[in-house]
Amino acid sequence: MAASPGRLLGTAVIGAGMAGRAHAAGYRVAPTLFGAGLPVVRLVAIADVNAGFAADAARRYGFERAESDWKAVATAPDVDVVSVVVANPLHREIVEGLLDAGKHVLCEKPMAPTVADAEAMVAAAQASVREAAVGFSFRRSPAISAIREQVRGGAIGRPLAFEGHYWCDYGVDPARPMSWRYQGRPGSGALADIGSHTVDVAEFVCGPIVAVRGAVLSTVVTERPVPVGTAMGHAAVEVSDVREPVTNDDQVAFTATFASGATGTFSASRVAFGHPNTLAFTVLGERGAATFDLNRPGEFGVADDTAPDATPGYRQVLVRPGHPYVSGGFAMDFPAMGHGQNDFFGLQARAFLEQVAGIEGLPRCASFAEGLHNLRLLDAVVASAHAGGAEVAVTPL
Ligand SMILES: NC(=O)c1ccc[n+]([C@@H]2O[C@H](COP(=O)([O-])OP(=O)(O)OC[C@H]3O[C@@H](n4cnc5c(N)ncnc54)[C@H](O)[C@@H]3O)[C@@H](O)[C@H]2O)c1
Repeated sequence: MAASPGRLLGTAVIGAGMAGRAHAAGYRVAPTLFGAGLPVVRLVAIADVNAGFAADAARRYGFERAESDWKAVATAPDVDVVSVVVANPLHREIVEGLLDAGKHVLCEKPMAPTVADAEAMVAAAQASVREAAVGFSFRRSPAISAIREQVRGGAIGRPLAFEGHYWCDYGVDPARPMSWRYQGRPGSGALADIGSHTVDVAEFVCGPIVAVRGAVLSTVVTERPVPVGTAMGHAAVEVSDVREPVTNDDQVAFTATFASGATGTFSASRVAFGHPNTLAFTVLGERGAATFDLNRPGEFGVADDTAPDATPGYRQVLVRPGHPYVSGGFAMDFPAMGHGQNDFFGLQARAFLEQVAGIEGLPRCASFAEGLHNLRLLDAVVASAHAGGAEVAVTPL
């Protein structure tokens, strides 16, 4: 249901950890992006079981109050739109509670810890008249969106292959504290945490994946110290002598087939030494290629058959007005101004608020059905690993 014109939209964020703060910053900046027309956005509440985290985030991003129980957000009459940015196993209960209470919900990826949970969340969203979306924030990258336009528009010809990897080093040090990220069933580790982004980007650019095979999951740091206090995100904190087992994957690799016939090769690692945050991919087409690396988010590479014979090869394209999201989307929308992953959360918040307000503007956020599809794809990877790398079909969206 769209917000009525002229009304206020009260926003809240549940979870004031690493990504929760990015959502809070996103709602703060959203009204400054693009033209007028958005209802007045009120920054109402940040909720976190850690009252200190909630209070700090509320103060930093200008939200009116801090709560220590998400139910206070669900029952608040001045809150319309809520981001759910807590550990994945907590998403379902909170999302269902919020939809039940009549809130619009933007839930972080991966949408849920299991396909069954995600199916229940899709049903809850279908039973609600409110908007429900999943935060695949890389869809807001100007460079990734520009590559998508090139590929979908046929500029590099039929895509033949997609190679994508998301390599992080947040888990490479065995002294880093145990957290919710390291506990769960196989596939809930690197695959769900960062691999979920890569497969979403792959499908965003090249269309649906229909099968996966050759999957290998591995855990290389088998136990971690329990923190003395509270761990946020990937931060190093004081740890105790108590160690707990890591129960999910540090690394994953697999291959895939797209509906177009293109071949995919994927890997994700949270123990990739020297790679703090490398989401990178290349699309090889019949008449060209395109490449992206999150370490240089304001540019992408293109090779095509329009280059002169004497100077063929990749061109470095610096993101500029004319590429998606740039004109009006950045405070200074000059060519090659540079931007990064934090900016994607502002663009995503703007898109979700437009969606809630019934404004036809930015592309809509990923639906819960798409979030479920993403989980089914990850589940197929896990099934392939359990079956010694056998091919597993992916249920279409
Ligand atoms: N889109 C992205 O780029 C991106 C990046 C990082 C994380 N994420 C996603 O965001 C979510 C959170 O990840 P994170 O890195 O911010 O985790 P985090 O551990 O840094 O923060 C989670 C926060 O939730 C709080 N919390 C725990 N139980 C709670 C409850 N019942 N009610 C309210 N708050 C509670 C914790 O105190 C903590 O502050 C995950 O789903 C993750 O996959 C997305």
